[in-house]
Amino acid sequence: MKENIQPATGRLGVLVVGVGGAVATTLITGTLAARKGMAKPIGSIAQLATMRMQDGKEHLIKEVVPIADLNDIVFGGWDIFPDNAYEAAMYAEVLKEKDLNLVKDELQAIRPMTAAFDHNFAKRLNGTHIKQAATRWDMVEQLREDIRQFKAANGCARIVVLWAASTEIFIPMAEEHRSLAALEQAMKENKTEVISPSMCYAYAAIAEGAPFIMGAPNLCVDIPAMWEFAKAKQVPIAGKDFKSGQTLMKTVLAPMFKTRMLGVSGWFSTNILGNRDGEVLDQPENFKTKEVSKLSVIENIFEPEKYPDLYGNVYHKVRINYYPPRKDNKEAWDNIDIFGWMGYPMEIKVNFLCRDSILAAPIALDLVLFSDLALRAGMSGIQTWLSFFCKSPMHDFEHQPVHDLFQQWRMVKETLRGMVGETAPSYLD
Ligand SMILES: NC(=O)c1ccc[n+]([C@@H]2O[C@H](COP(=O)([O-])OP(=O)(O)OC[C@H]3O[C@@H](n4cnc5c(N)ncnc54)[C@H](O)[C@@H]3O)[C@@H](O)[C@H]2O)c1
Repeated sequence: MKENIQPATGRLGVLVVGVGGAVATTLITGTLAARKGMAKPIGSIAQLATMRMQDGKEHLIKEVVPIADLNDIVFGGWDIFPDNAYEAAMYAEVLKEKDLNLVKDELQAIRPMTAAFDHNFAKRLNGTHIKQAATRWDMVEQLREDIRQFKAANGCARIVVLWAASTEIFIPMAEEHRSLAALEQAMKENKTEVISPSMCYAYAAIAEGAPFIMGAPNLCVDIPAMWEFAKAKQVPIAGKDFKSGQTLMKTVLAPMFKTRMLGVSGWFSTNILGNRDGEVLDQPENFKTKEVSKLSVIENIFEPEKYPDLYGNVYHKVRINYYPPRKDNKEAWDNIDIFGWMGYPMEIKVNFLCRDSILAAPIALDLVLFSDLALRAGMSGIQTWLSFFCKSPMHDFEHQPVHDLFQQWRMVKETLRGMVGETAPSYLD
C-alpha cells in the first residue's frame, strides 16, 4: 500500500534551529559527505537498518518505504551567531579539519538566518545575530516569512524544522499552553515568561505545514496547544531530547534488569562535558529542563508500583558537570547498585567515553527523514513511534511514554510495516 504514501519527489529543505551548533554542523557535514560517497552514515536507522517483512526476509528500511534521498536535502537554519556552517564547525571542534574540508564550499554556503532569541531563556549565551521582535507573535511572523523565503529560494517541495539549539530554561506547563486559542492570545499579548522562543519556531513550522522536531528537552511542542495545532494543520511533531549516550545505555540496561527480575537500589549517573551545550547546562534553570528529561526514564521502565520488592526504593541521581577541557567528548559514569537472589548486592560500573555529537547526528538525520515520511504518509500530531530516538518521548495525557529501547524499536518497525500494509511476520521479529 505504498501508493498511500506520497513519493519523496523534489527537494527537502531541512531548517535547523541552532545551525551553528555542534550537533547541527556534525549532522550537516556527515550528510553532505555521505551523499558524495566520502563517509558512511553510521548510526542512521533510515540509511542502514533492515527489518523483517511478511516474506520472512530482511529488507532495507529505505527500500520498503519511500525515504527522501540524501541528495535532495538542502540545509539552512537560524543561529544567534552569524558564522557560516564551516566556521561554526571549526569552532565546535567535533570533526577534524580534513573531514570538514571534504565539503568546505557547501558548508561555507550555509549562512544562518537571524535567530528568534530571548536572553532570559539561555543566560550563558550572548549572540547578536538576533531578530528584533515587538511581541512573540511578531517573532512567529518573521520566522514564517523565513521559512517561506527559504522554500522558494531553494525550490523545495517540503520543509522540516529541527531544533538542535541550546536547552532553554525550565518552564512548567501553564494555562496558556492548554489550548491553541490561549497560546495564540499569549503570543499576541507577549507573555514572554510562558512563551519560549522555541515555541515560536514550532508554531511557525506547523503553520507553514512543516514537521517540527524538538531535539532538546524544552517543553515547546510538548503541550496540548501544539498537539491541537499539529492535528489541525495535519503536521507531524516529534521529540523530545535526542537519546544519544547515557540515557541510551539506561534504556538498554534497565529492561535487562527487569526482564531478569533483578532488583535495583540505586543508580548514580554523572558526566563531564565541555562544549557550549555543557556551558548552557551549567546554569541551574537550564539543567533543570535536562534533569527532568533524564530522570523519568528509569521509573517508567521499572514500574515500581508493580514490582515494589525490586524497584520500590531506587535512589536515582543525575549530574552534568561543565568541564571545558573535554569539549564535545563527554565522559559519563554510571554506578548501578543491583541486588539478586536473597537480596545479595552487586555493583555495575559503566564508563562511557562518548562523542556527543557523533551519537546525536544520525538520530537527528533519522528524525528528519522519518518525520518527512510521516507527513507524506498522512500522519499528524505526536509521532509516538519516533520515541526510539528520544530521551523524553512526547505523549498525550491518555498515554504513558515508552522508554524501553527494544519496545521502541518494535514500534518503529511496526509503524513502517503498517505504512505498506504489513505486520510483524512471526515472533522472530
Ligand atoms: N549532543 C547530544 O548528544 C545531545 C543529546 C540530547 C540533546 N542534545 C541537545 O541538542 C542541543 C544542541 O546541542 P549542541 O551540543 O549542538 O549544542 P551547541 O551549544 O553546540 O549548539 C546550540 C546552538 O544553538 C544556538 N542557539 C541557541 N539558542 C538559539 C535560538 N533561540 N535560535 C537559534 N539558535 C540558537 C547556539 O548559538 C548554538 O550555536 C542542546 O539543546 C542539547 O542539550 C544534544
